[in-house]
Amino acid sequence: MFRTGTDIELAASILRSGDVVVIPTETVYGLSANAFNPEAVKKIFAIKKRPLFNPLIVHSDSLTKVEQYVAEFPLKAKKLSEKFWPGPLTIVLKKSNIISEIVTGGNSTVAVRIPNHPLTIALLKLLDFPLAAPSANPFGFISPTTPQHVEEQLGDKIKYILDGGKCMVGIESTIIGFFEDEPEILRFGGISIEDIEAIIGKVKIKNNDFLENPIAPGQLKSHYAPKHKLIFGDLEKMIKKGDYNPVKIGILSFSNLYPMIPQENQIRLSKNLDLNEAAGNLFDSLRKLDKLDIEVIFAEEFPNRELGRAINDRLTRASAERY
Ligand code: TXA
Ligand code: MG
Repeated sequence: MFRTGTDIELAASILRSGDVVVIPTETVYGLSANAFNPEAVKKIFAIKKRPLFNPLIVHSDSLTKVEQYVAEFPLKAKKLSEKFWPGPLTIVLKKSNIISEIVTGGNSTVAVRIPNHPLTIALLKLLDFPLAAPSANPFGFISPTTPQHVEEQLGDKIKYILDGGKCMVGIESTIIGFFEDEPEILRFGGISIEDIEAIIGKVKIKNNDFLENPIAPGQLKSHYAPKHKLIFGDLEKMIKKGDYNPVKIGILSFSNLYPMIPQENQIRLSKNLDLNEAAGNLFDSLRKLDKLDIEVIFAEEFPNRELGRAINDRLTRASAERY
């Protein structure tokens, strides 16, 4: 039995009772629980079927509160938090003692973020604890950007979805870690590297092929997988190769239409070539393509700048093959 609505008092009471609530953020919907209650946090892992070593992001509504969750806050991290919070940036810092290892997957670091969504900020203000929350999808699947996406995948397992409408950014937060004060990008996301470097200078980028011992589960190969096979890269080449019947091909493109493929099987992420708009439409479009009577999804490679990097990252992880 679940309900969807905008009742933050109800959401708060469910969370206080040690249960989970799905919350809206500007990036994707999150499956949240009291970060100070290990039994509540364990429910997140069980519902998502997520391995326990995979750490969760701790969400708060204020910088003063976040300061209590971390052991230190390096200057560059502080600058980023001041510039981009509330917003789609997650910062990984040394944890303080009040953050339990069930939240951090046994790590001595904690990922923290202030999300930019009025309903969730209002909810956090009612609570005297922060919310641990991963994306509200079963482990390995596409993240939800609407309440309907959550209902389809987890509706029978949760009591309440706080309905904040369509997520405006539509792709998960950028994650930056500070290890020995050296900033490193762990996941591309809603804040571009260009914007981060404008504030703190050059940052390292974690090698994405790092699959053996992933710090971030976004680095696992099967992540973001749609049901249909997805092939990613140069669309013209894929179509010309002729491996698939054109009527059984679905297309995910930036703005191009392909005349040899049925129009109803094509989704253009941004007709005006706007990377922010494209990121916002990405996950919903993958879900729509997955529902078509097709055999394969051909997805175009996006320009490797700004949010295009995050889009290419998610499509690479969703893909079985690359051209
Ligand atoms: O936009 C977002 O970040 C969304 C919304 C709900 O806030 N959350 C989200 O959570 O995408 P999740 O769990 O799906 O992805 C969070 C990533 C995981 O890859 C996790 O491994 C990484 O953050 N992470 C969390 N704590 C970490 C830590 N202490 N060190 C390194 N990576 C960490
Ligand atoms: Mg996720």
